Amino acid sequence: MRVQVAIIGAGPSGLMLGRLLELAGIDAVIVERKSADYVLGRIRAGVLEQGSVDLMDRALAGARMHAEGLVHHGIEMGFDGDRHRIDFSALVGSQVMVYGQTEVTRDLMAIRQSRTIYEAEDVELHDFDGQQPWVSYRKDGATHRIDCAVIAGCDGFHGVSRRSVPERSLTTFERVYPFGWLGVLTDRPPVADELIYAHHERGFALCSQRSRTRSRYYIQVPADEQVGAWSDDRFWDELRARLAPETAEAMQTGPSIEKSVAQLRSFVAEPLRFGQLFLAGDAAHIVPPTGAKGLNLAMSDVAALADALIEHFSEGSPAALDAYSNHVLSRIWKAERFSWWMTSLLHTFPETGPFGRRIQRAEFDYLTGSRAAQQSLAENYVGLPA
Ligand code: APR
Ligand code: PHB
Repeated sequence: MRVQVAIIGAGPSGLMLGRLLELAGIDAVIVERKSADYVLGRIRAGVLEQGSVDLMDRALAGARMHAEGLVHHGIEMGFDGDRHRIDFSALVGSQVMVYGQTEVTRDLMAIRQSRTIYEAEDVELHDFDGQQPWVSYRKDGATHRIDCAVIAGCDGFHGVSRRSVPERSLTTFERVYPFGWLGVLTDRPPVADELIYAHHERGFALCSQRSRTRSRYYIQVPADEQVGAWSDDRFWDELRARLAPETAEAMQTGPSIEKSVAQLRSFVAEPLRFGQLFLAGDAAHIVPPTGAKGLNLAMSDVAALADALIEHFSEGSPAALDAYSNHVLSRIWKAERFSWWMTSLLHTFPETGPFGRRIQRAEFDYLTGSRAAQQSLAENYVGLPA
């Protein structure tokens, strides 16, 4: 098979890139290791910046999102039971959309016309430092080959694309936090109309949601925590202990329909281009989920990559492809900073001791007392310009 672009990975990055290229008349195939059902079974974040909402519209995939997504005009920040609302609309005149990543993926899968090869084993990238890269994979016992002009590595943090780059060509920056998030999904109405991010001396807690009838809750746990150690009852008791009393009382609990632990990590690989291979989304960077930037960063990467590829294939101009890595890294690092900052404010860090906790309290008091500080949070949360 010969195509213009071979996309590795059918997560939100690969599917969105594929869709934008398809609409521009660029021939692209997606090669995905897992089955479509497996990809749709993954439960991930659920907050879209306006830029991501606009991109779903550009992809002509936004109809269900507009019908079912929930527009949120603010969030609540809590500290040891004290509560403060950050009003995005009043502070920066923008808002976010609560719509699960699973639903984004489902909508992009449904609208796609071109080929996605699922359950492709042993995907390998070849000769991307020259002008004739190719991709190989195994399926149904046979080995297949895709010749292409460009490879887009959209295969997530554990994918093959970044690992295919010689180590000496790559600089990585990483911070692994000494904790994770234990998340529970339940078919009960959310405790509040807006998300609640809460710092407590027992650890961070987040009240999120997927719809008016489905809630997503998280608590900070040690990095090596086993899900099996947490019965539903133990989870609900711990969550309640970390929330303001009136919130804890109002919360409706129910059986968990999903429960998992996610490790928190900040990670960036530079640069994002090696010859004809371009990295985008989680393949290139990871943010801790505090601040909900992961999916949105992936969307802004692929929007930039799609535009650069369109310029390259339609106008024969390499300028935008040459600029891709530096261009998106600037936005990536700002999102890394914001996610790190939200994480630092809201979690308990055993190693920082009482001094660190007083600094966190001062940061919270500064935030709630300063419109400038709130505006800074708000403009980052709703998404910085592309
Ligand atoms: N070959 C082919 N496909 C692969 C390979 C491989 N070797 N390795 C991984 N994949 C696939 C995965 O199965 C997955 O479907 O690549 C896809 C990557 O998808 P994601 O991990 O969702 O990454 P991305 O599309 O960049 O989306 C970023 O996901 O983790 C969240 O916070 C993140 O919300 C953000 C979003
Ligand atoms: C989620 O709903 O899963 C979610 C929301 C906001 C975050 C992280 C996760 O910051």
